[in-house]
Amino acid sequence: MSSSDDPNLRPATKLVQGGRRPEWTGDPRLGGSVVNPPVWRASTILYDNIADLKARGHATHDKLYYGRRGTPTVWALADALTDLEPGAEGTLLYPSGVAAISAGLLALLSPGDHLLMVDSAYEPTRSFCNGMLARFGVTTTYYDPSIGAGIADLITPETKLIFLESPGSLTFEMQDVPAIVARARARGVTTMLDNTWATPLLFPALALGVDVTAMSLTKYVGGHSDAMMGALTATKVLWPRLRHATYQLGLSVSPDDCALMLRGLRTLDVRLARHGENGLAVANWLAGRSEVGRVLHPALPGDPGHAIWARDFTGTSGLFGFTLKDADDAGRTRFIDALSAFGIGFSWGGYESLVVPSNPAEIRTAVAWTDTDSLVRLSVGLEHSADLIADLERGFAAMAG
Ligand SMILES: Cc1ncc(COP(=O)(O)O)c(C=O)c1O
Repeated sequence: MSSSDDPNLRPATKLVQGGRRPEWTGDPRLGGSVVNPPVWRASTILYDNIADLKARGHATHDKLYYGRRGTPTVWALADALTDLEPGAEGTLLYPSGVAAISAGLLALLSPGDHLLMVDSAYEPTRSFCNGMLARFGVTTTYYDPSIGAGIADLITPETKLIFLESPGSLTFEMQDVPAIVARARARGVTTMLDNTWATPLLFPALALGVDVTAMSLTKYVGGHSDAMMGALTATKVLWPRLRHATYQLGLSVSPDDCALMLRGLRTLDVRLARHGENGLAVANWLAGRSEVGRVLHPALPGDPGHAIWARDFTGTSGLFGFTLKDADDAGRTRFIDALSAFGIGFSWGGYESLVVPSNPAEIRTAVAWTDTDSLVRLSVGLEHSADLIADLERGFAAMAG
């Protein structure tokens, strides 16, 4: 199913070669091929005759059938993402990361089922569980992100799915994914993990036994803050079920957006390396400031999740948090408003740095968030880290003043 013939290629090479099957980039009648799969826009697909139309009714997912089932631009992106996850059978694309997560949960859960959801999950993921899933008769139990092998005690005969997000994208707790996956497997429970922070480049989740990964491509894969999309990548066992549900829900993506995502994907390796390096420079500087309570970054040696990060991850991205010691909301606001290199805005993973305030105490239910210092989240971009640090220094001056 993948476009690369050699499964041993390294991720940086796969990023360059992925999705560029000859039938998607060239036509022998034109005498050559183009580098990037062109944008194939389509609703209607024309058939040669009725026999052709009838035969195509049973088409596989990578043959032209009807626009909603995709065109080569869409398949090229899906294929390139599948290539990045050793052990993956296929990838499905969705209009946003939230749509990917919601569709995955809907596809894998039925009325009467029980879901174990990590307490540090992205808030709209929780909202889907508490809203639509609850309405459809699925019960959710939130669990402590640090639970590890203790997850076994929460599994009931009705538990069908354990959802993970590591690190949590607001509070950055690391999860012991192999320990949780082992307990899930032993009890026949499926695992699904939001891998947006790390991408498969830094954390090959399927290779570590996770069954389905969700990713918001809006973040690091797109990388330029100008398009939204999400993906589910799954093992051979679950892929047909997810594909069927996605077709039933009528979820499809624009080939123009896929072309933007493919463009972002080609440079993901170099961008992530720079995001990670810049993020660490800023995080280390913040750790030495008297105004800062703690820096929430698993790649820092003092972080509670550092050992797990060092064991399972091959690098870091540029998203992390820190607390402002003794600062109230007004102090945090003065700090953030004084920044100019950091834009104030949601999302992350784009080339430009962003900052948002966050309030985890309002969200958590399994384990109370007891840190009373205000929390700030930074998405560190590709600027020079010295300019970012100078900007933060101005923020601290404004906070004091
Ligand atoms: C961890 C995580 N997962 C999923 C999403 C949702 O992605 P999207 O904005 O593409 O719907 C986000 C968005 O911020 C996120 O932070």
